[in-house]
Amino acid sequence: MIDETRAGLPAGVAAEVALDEVRRLRAGDRPIHGGRLFAYVYDPAVPGLDELAAAAHRESAHVNGLDPTAFPSLLAMENALVGAAGRVLGAGPGTTAPDVVGSVTSGGTESLILAVKTARDAHPEITAPRIVVPSSAHAAFAKAAHYLRVAMDVVPVSLDTLRPDPAAMAAAIRPETVLVACSAPSYAHGVVDPVAEIAAAAADAGVRCHVDACFGGWTLPYLRRLGEPVPAFDFAVPGVTSISVDLHKYAYAPKGVSVLLHRDASLRAPQYFAYADWPGYTMINPVIASTRSGGPIAAAYATVRHLGDDGYLRLATVTRDAVAGLADAVRAVDGLRLMAEPESTVVCFTATEDGPDLFVLVDELTARGWHTQPQLSYAGLPASVHLTVTASVAPRVGDFGPDLADAVAAALVAGPVRLPAELAALVGALTPDALTPELVEGLAAGLGMGDEPGGAPLPERMAVVNTLLDAAPPALRERLLVEFVGLLQRPTW
Ligand SMILES: Cc1ncc(COP(=O)(O)O)c(C=O)c1O
Repeated sequence: MIDETRAGLPAGVAAEVALDEVRRLRAGDRPIHGGRLFAYVYDPAVPGLDELAAAAHRESAHVNGLDPTAFPSLLAMENALVGAAGRVLGAGPGTTAPDVVGSVTSGGTESLILAVKTARDAHPEITAPRIVVPSSAHAAFAKAAHYLRVAMDVVPVSLDTLRPDPAAMAAAIRPETVLVACSAPSYAHGVVDPVAEIAAAAADAGVRCHVDACFGGWTLPYLRRLGEPVPAFDFAVPGVTSISVDLHKYAYAPKGVSVLLHRDASLRAPQYFAYADWPGYTMINPVIASTRSGGPIAAAYATVRHLGDDGYLRLATVTRDAVAGLADAVRAVDGLRLMAEPESTVVCFTATEDGPDLFVLVDELTARGWHTQPQLSYAGLPASVHLTVTASVAPRVGDFGPDLADAVAAALVAGPVRLPAELAALVGALTPDALTPELVEGLAAGLGMGDEPGGAPLPERMAVVNTLLDAAPPALRERLLVEFVGLLQRPTW
């Protein structure tokens, strides 16, 4: 006998009931609009833009990018997006990079994985390929190296400038190096690496150079047009062979769209994967996914067409002013200091010696409705607070300063987090391999990670969790977080 209550799916419900469930689940999320969330979302606060993107997404959601001949609409939109990204990044007719080509990917991580794969596969004779990256490079390079079995030579950034020394990058290039990478700007601190010097060193060694402009590639050129001192970082720089830029960041498209550009088609060639040695259709994929929804691509297309050059210039102006206002707010509070003078759309600050515990401060800001991103201390760099600034923040800047001052005062009164002695001793002594499921469950429970179905997965105040992670070396942080996330990812039956 089949137990009807256990087997199969529940019976269907009315459309409005299903949608209502989605809406109720969404109510527990961080606010994607309103300029109070400084990570994860990119909100230009342009009236009607969400509706436009949703309508375009709906038109193409079931269209499949697997076969451009079956759905030429997607091919046309992809080509237009690649052309637009090229124009923003110093390529196209009349430039020094007229032959740039590219692909639309699902996001920055996929673009970086493909940049590494393409560089690796251009050199099948190199049996143990390597890449050179600054320590500030996005973690997606490490993921690429891990997936693709490419070794990564990491060049530390200066603790003052937060940039790598180009000479050290050059010195790290070996005969097995297939790619040198740098960021414009780095995610963590928002600083632009010395792209021209790094690309020149790579070119001298006959190695490809990728500029990760996933975060800021769409804003830096507009900031330059507004008179900001943005250094050369795009295809105008000789030696730059590929660039990635995420449209789901500062092109303000909904999630799922990035562009990977190569200086010419011969550099792009090893990116493709083709397979005809099976009885089905011959598979030819420029990117990692095979079946691809047209939804995100159509949404990005409509967004870029609607905002246009004037729209992006206006949004960059608003964002630049918001960045300046937030940086002033940080400067005005005793106990905080900027990690770097803002040169893109990131404001990143840390605490001075007599300043507040940053993780407590982050909780105090959350309690005041400001959702910031704590960054753990790393290789001599102190813990910091990251603010990704978008145009939607502009009307809120005036409120941020007083709340920041208030939150700092409250954090100073609360004092720093002191881990219980046994927890601190445990983290000091633990190695990733020594973590047992019981230990992890015990730690998670001790840290207040909820396990009620549908309940909040994390405690309201995260300072203890962040302090614990901060006390752990990176390898243990990774393992702990993998285990914690594994605990959260459980089916609801
Ligand atoms: C500089 C940089 N590169 C790559 C990525 C990865 O992008 P995604 O999260 O879209 O995979 C990010 C994301 O923030 C980034 O800032």
